[in-house]
Amino acid sequence: MSRWVAVAETWELAPEQGRRFWVEGQAVVVFRTEGGFAAFDDACPHEGASLAEVGYLDLKGRLVCGWHDWAFSLTTGCRAPAGRPCLRRYPLQIEGETLFVGVD
Ligand code: FES
Repeated sequence: MSRWVAVAETWELAPEQGRRFWVEGQAVVVFRTEGGFAAFDDACPHEGASLAEVGYLDLKGRLVCGWHDWAFSLTTGCRAPAGRPCLRRYPLQIEGETLFVGVD
């Protein structure tokens, strides 16, 4: 079962902009999306770029790595449309205005 770690207040996250948080030693990038929030490992599986630094959300609602344009589904974390590889996706929870990331 996940432990929940508070990372930010929801209002601190700008729309469609990634922000890196260190969660129990793991770099996690959180994006505010059109529908809420999404959190992934902050390392592109291609060559390790920080998605907080070079990632962006495209018009198709995907997370795109700015180094070589690999795109990932915000829902699954998997490369779209290829299906693999996948980013590790973290569960999120909001209590009041505080955003929590779930870790194992
Ligand atoms: S490092 Fe992300 S696409 Fe190459």
